Amino acid sequence: MRASRYFVFFYAAMTLLPVLVLALLLLLWLRNGYVYYIIPLLAVDLLVFGALGFAETFTGKGASNRLLYEKVGKDKTAKNEKEIVLEIDRFYSSEKSIKTKQYVVGTDKFTTVLDALIKIKQEQDGSLAVRYSCRMGICGSCGVVINGKPGLACEANAGACEKDGKVKVGPMLAHPLVKDLVNDFDDFFEKHIAVNPGIERQDSRDKFSSDKPYRQKQGDIDKFLPYSYCIMCGLCLEACPVVNTNSEFIGPQALSQAYRYLKDSKDQDGGGRIRAIDKLTGLWGCEYAGACSEACPKGVDPATAIQLLKAESAKSFFNSEKDDSNED
Ligand code: SF4
Ligand code: FES
Repeated sequence: MRASRYFVFFYAAMTLLPVLVLALLLLLWLRNGYVYYIIPLLAVDLLVFGALGFAETFTGKGASNRLLYEKVGKDKTAKNEKEIVLEIDRFYSSEKSIKTKQYVVGTDKFTTVLDALIKIKQEQDGSLAVRYSCRMGICGSCGVVINGKPGLACEANAGACEKDGKVKVGPMLAHPLVKDLVNDFDDFFEKHIAVNPGIERQDSRDKFSSDKPYRQKQGDIDKFLPYSYCIMCGLCLEACPVVNTNSEFIGPQALSQAYRYLKDSKDQDGGGRIRAIDKLTGLWGCEYAGACSEACPKGVDPATAIQLLKAESAKSFFNSEKDDSNED
C-alpha cells in the first residue's frame, strides 16, 4: 500500500514537472524575451526524462512497470512452475465414443487451460482437436467443460482449476460433437438466426442509408446493452437443464438476443420476433433454473431476459385483445 502511494506521488510529480518547466519558460520569455534561457532549461528537462525513460526501458524496473504489476497483483519474475495432469475427455467420431486420456503439462501461474491444451497439441499429441481463436475471451470459440462446469478454456487459469494436481476437461455435450473438444454449432446458429437478430426497419432502405443517424439516449442504450455482450460461446446452453433434455427448445442464447433487439429503440420489427418465440419450444420452455446466467462468461444474464420476454409477450397479448374489443 505504501509502495503504491509512493508511485502515485512519483507519477504526479513527473506529470507536473514539464508543466512547471513550460510555465517558467513562458514567464522568462514574456519578461525578458531572451531566448537563451530556454536552452539550459530544455537541456535539464531532456536529461531528466531521458534518464528515466532509459532506466524504464532497459531495466524493466521503471515506475510504470512496477505500478502495473502492483495493480494486477502479479510479479513479473515469479514463475511458480508446476506440473499438472490434464484429464481430457476426447470424442472419437469414428467410434462415436468418448475416451479419457491423461497428459502431464508444465505450467506457471499464468498458464490457462487453453495454453495447456495447445502445449499438449504442440508437444505431445498433435491429434488433439481443440477450437480457439482470440485466446482472450472475445471470440467465444473455446467453450469446454472444466471440472464439470462450462467455461472458456482461455479464461480459466490452469493452476486455479487444479484439484489434487488434476484438471478435468471435456467437450460441451449440449451441442453435437465433431472431434475431441470441438462441437458442431450449426443448430446453435440456426436458433440464433430464428429470432431475427438484427435491427429491423419498416422502410428497409433505412438499414443501408447513412444520411440519417438514429440517435439514442443513454437510457435507451442501457435497456439492451448488457444483452449485446453475447459472444455466442454456447456455454449457457451447456448449463441449461431444459436444453439438455429437449433439443427443440430454442435456448437461452437465442432468447437473450431476441430481447436485446426487441429493446433496441432503433428496431421496428412490429412484434414478429416475439410471435416467433411465443411458444413452448420458445420462451415458455424456460423453467428458470438460472444456470445459463451463472455460466455466462460475459454477464449477459439470459435468465432475466427470458422472464422479461414473458412479460413482453403477455403485454402484446393483452394489447391485441384490447384492439380486438375496440374493433367490435
Ligand atoms: S449468453 Fe453468455 S453464455 Fe450464452 S452464448 Fe452468449 S456469451 Fe455465451
Ligand atoms: S479463444 Fe476466444 S474466447 Fe477463448
